[in-house]
Formats: sequence, structure tokens, C-alpha cells
Amino acid sequence: MNLLKTIQSAFAPVVESLLGEPSAVSPYLAMIKPTNDPKYGDYQANLAMPLAKALDRVPREVAQEIAKSLSGGELFDSVEVAGPGFINLRLRSEWLARQVRVMQGDPRLAVPPAERAKTIIIDYSSPNVAKPLHVGHLRSTIIGDSLKRIFRFLGHRVIADNHLGDWGTQFGMLLYGYKHFRDDEALRRDPINELVRLYVHVRNLTKGREEDEGEVSRTEEEAAHYARCLEETRKLQAGDPENVAIWQQFVRWTMETVAPIYRLLDVSFDHYYGESFYKDMLPEVVESLLQRGIAERSEGAVVLFLSPAKEGEPRRADAVIQKKDGAFTYMTSDLACIKYRMERWHPDAILYVVGTPQSQHFQTLFETARRWGYGQAELRHIQFGSVLGNDRKMLSTRNGGAAALSDLLALAVARGGEKYEETRAERLARGEEVPELDAAERQAIAEAVGIGAVKYADLAQNRISDYVFSLEKMLSTDGNTATYMQYAYTRCRGILRKGQVEAQSLRDHPPPVSLSEPAERVLAVQLCRFEETLAAAADEYAPHLLTVYLWELARSYSRFFESCPVLRADSPELRQSRLVLVDLTSRVIRQALELLGIRTLERM
Ligand code: ARG
Repeated sequence: MNLLKTIQSAFAPVVESLLGEPSAVSPYLAMIKPTNDPKYGDYQANLAMPLAKALDRVPREVAQEIAKSLSGGELFDSVEVAGPGFINLRLRSEWLARQVRVMQGDPRLAVPPAERAKTIIIDYSSPNVAKPLHVGHLRSTIIGDSLKRIFRFLGHRVIADNHLGDWGTQFGMLLYGYKHFRDDEALRRDPINELVRLYVHVRNLTKGREEDEGEVSRTEEEAAHYARCLEETRKLQAGDPENVAIWQQFVRWTMETVAPIYRLLDVSFDHYYGESFYKDMLPEVVESLLQRGIAERSEGAVVLFLSPAKEGEPRRADAVIQKKDGAFTYMTSDLACIKYRMERWHPDAILYVVGTPQSQHFQTLFETARRWGYGQAELRHIQFGSVLGNDRKMLSTRNGGAAALSDLLALAVARGGEKYEETRAERLARGEEVPELDAAERQAIAEAVGIGAVKYADLAQNRISDYVFSLEKMLSTDGNTATYMQYAYTRCRGILRKGQVEAQSLRDHPPPVSLSEPAERVLAVQLCRFEETLAAAADEYAPHLLTVYLWELARSYSRFFESCPVLRADSPELRQSRLVLVDLTSRVIRQALELLGIRTLERM
């Protein structure tokens, strides 16, 4: 049940009759929000002031009129006008209690699947072959995978595609380096590292000096190396068996390094259609764009000019789609990729989860696609900020040198394990009951806690912000962290175990719920806000709204737990009612964490 929508639907006819114009209603309904302080009620509507302005009336009078027509129904306990015309809403406890019971009886927690299932392609992770997966790719992987889980849960058809950077002129350099300068021993030890070394080595051999207008001047020796790289690229593109086999080996090595990381992160894809998947389409893409006058030939290259030239300035191309030497670019394969996706899946939306530095690329890509006739789908760059080190500098770079992601995750797992042992010792010292766990269970906890901490910290940010990577903060047990939520979950489960409660029958046949204590009511409202939160997270592509929600839920739960005895409640009915709140809280936490891609454990 979407609580916000339910309240909005109650307001809609009233606002409509005031305005006399159904189409103008929705911006006003958007002004209904949860209150910051339960003292003022559960929700607050700030629509009377702008409404009065539009109607040329006194705000308080408009507010009172609305309040009067909403009072007395089954939904609201009180509708009060405050100040110049704020409307404070308090939901009826009996109504809330019924909703809680419905949620408890539904495996989907009363979240119905979307009426119209959309097809949504999510392009995420997308590392580059022969380069290590960096912290920069971490955000794309984590955010993309969470969006996938959210949209799938809401009943949409999601296609998860990993757009690997596995094609391009850099492979000529890599092939040349591999054939002439490789260190087999180093390759056996750490193939990606050795490939990065080879690439850097060859790039230095062929670098030359940048002259004006992007021209490069090379010594004779540099030019000779460069020519041989171009020859390797040409052979690879022409399908030369030796070069194709070596290139495939590069791809395999890369996949072997990323696969364990994906496993650790619980991330999976439906397709790994890298740039190379589109290679045969590239000439026709360029041809088609030229024919339609979207691309132009310019000094031997084929380019896109999307914006008109500025007065007195030379025209500047927005992107090159075929270079002078005939090579295609990142942009060309992205254009081919859109054509392919549109023709195969007819998606409603394609989401590209890629860092902010590529926003220019995506603007050009989307505008070109629209002109080319692929404007029917929503094309959207889901951008995100950088991960910073303690020195507030970028922790990730595009071309090596930064901490490799696998080291970082291994460290997180190790720290997760230590954190668990520390917390365990503290709990024992406080005289709490702590379960005796074997090595396998402890390892599972270390992974869930360590990886969960990294994911949660990433998803808890507003996507666009940069954030400082601090394992210590991420693993804190008393802030808005995965660790805190994981413990909150196991504490709920612990109560049910301790009371020997059959959770399944509590779900199959939910007992009546009563909400007489303020802390019970606040918790119930928060539980009922699950669906509206999910809807907002999906609409805004903002998984962090789920973390904000979880934090508030966990806090309402601990206030409830402090003031309302559960197993020792005054009557068997009250005990059952409170057990429903405990069980439902645990299920909502678990479901929300699962949508963030974070594991929970039954005991810790
Ligand atoms: N491989 C690219 C990089 O690491 C990201 C690709 C993103 N997806 C896309 N369709 N361009 O920067």
C-alpha cells in the first residue's frame, strides 16, 4: 500500500472541486509530505497557500475548507490547520493497524507489481579489458545492481548489460607489446598487471610530442613502433586468427579477475555485450548517419556537429565517429549499441550508470540517437561522483595506479571479520547472549558485514556527491551503516527465537494489531511508508532514499523496543500484536537491504 498515494487520493477530489480543473491538481498533491516531527502528525500538506493564491482567497480559509471535507473519514484521525494554512494530518490508528496486518500477511509486503511492466535496460559496471577494475567502477556496479533489483521487484523487465571496453585501437598497442616485450613469469602471476605494464611501455615508445591542432610528431623510431601497432590493430580488425586468439586471451584474463569480485558483490548480468559485440555494425552506423546528414566529413574524419557554430569561432565537432585512419570510436560503438538495443528489446528506458566525467559523451550520444530516430525510449545518464581517499583526492583513475578494487574488498572482508569479533567481545562483556558460531558462519559474517558496509556506504550517498572512502566509518555499529541494519535485523530475529515464535504462522494468519502506544504508531507509519519509498527510489533512480528510510525505520524500532515490552507484554493479544511489529520490521529491513544488494544473517 502506497501511503502517500492513498493520502493524495483523499485530497484529490477536494482540491479538484476547489480548482474546478482536474488537470491542475497534481502539482498541489506533490506538496503533501511526511512531517519531520510526529508531534505535528504523520503527514503535512502545504498546498493551501499556493492554492489560495491561485484562487485569490485567504489561505487559512482554504485550509479550513479542505480540513473540513477530509475529517470524519476512516483514514484521518485529525486534520488540523496550523499557522498561515499548514494542514497537519494524523492517520487513524485502527486504519494503520489494518494496513500493518495486510502487509504482514503478504509475502510482497503489500507492494503490488507495476500495472504496466516497462522494459528497462541497465548498462553498468562496464570495466575495460586489460585494465584493472577500479574503485570508480565500484560505484557503477553497486548502484546499477541496486537499480536492477528495485525495478525487478517492482515488476519491470530489466535487462542488465555489462558494456565491456573490449575493443579499440589500444588493442594494437597491447598486441604489439604482448608479442615483443612480455614477461611470461609476470603474466602468470598477475596477467592484468602485466598487460597494464605492456600498454604503458608501448604508449611511451610511440608517444611523440603533441603539436598544435592535436597533431603528433614522432621520431623515426617512434614512428616505426607506432606503424607496427597500427598494423596489429588492422590485423585484429581484419580477423587475423593469431591476433584474435591473443585478444580473446586478454578478454578471458580480464573476466577471470572480475568474476570473483562480482561473486563477492552478489552482482550478475544478463549480457556481457562489450564494445566488440558491435564491431561489424560500425561501418553501417557511420554510413547511415552520413546519409541522414547527422554526421559530416571533416578533414578526412567523420564527425558530429550538433550545436551551431558560435559567432566568430571555428565550428567545433561534438564527437568523432570515424578517425582519419579509418578507426571507429567509443561513440560509434555506443551508437551501434543503441540501435541494437532498440531493435532487439524495444525498451522504455536505457539507463547508463557511469561517472559524471562522461556526461558530455552521453549528452552527445543521446542527442545523436534522437536525431537518428531512436528518441522513443528514455535515454538517461545515471551519473555519480567520485570516491575520494582520506586526502580527499580521487581514489580512482582511468588508467591504472589506483588501489585495485579486489584488494579493497579483501580488506573490507578482513575488517568486517575483525569488527564482528570486537563487537562480540563487547557484547559478552556486557553479559549479552552471543551465539557460538563455527568458522564457516564467521566467514559468512565477515563477508556480509565487510561487503555490506562498502555497498551501503556507497548507496547511502546522494549519487551525485563525491564521498570519502573510510572503512572505519562504514563499519560503525552506531550510525546509518549496513552493520547497524544487519544487527537490527538479527535482534528482531533473536526476539522471535527467544519467544519460540512460529514466524510463518504469524504471517499466514496475522493476528489483530493494536497501536495504542505512541512508539507503536510511529513504527507502524514508518512500516507503511515502505512502498512510497520504493516508488520514489525508482522514480528518481535514487537508492539512497531506501537507506534514509531504513535509518528512520531502525530508529523508530529501537524507540518502540525501549518503551514497549514484547515477550513480556501485558496480555497475550498485545504480545501477538507486538510480535507482528517485530517480525514485519525484520522483513522490511531484510527486503530493503536485499534491494540494495546487501545480505542479512539470521544470527550474529
Ligand atoms: N568502459 C567504460 C569506462 O570504463 C564505461 C562504459 C559505459 N557504458 C557505455 N555504454 N558507454 O569508462
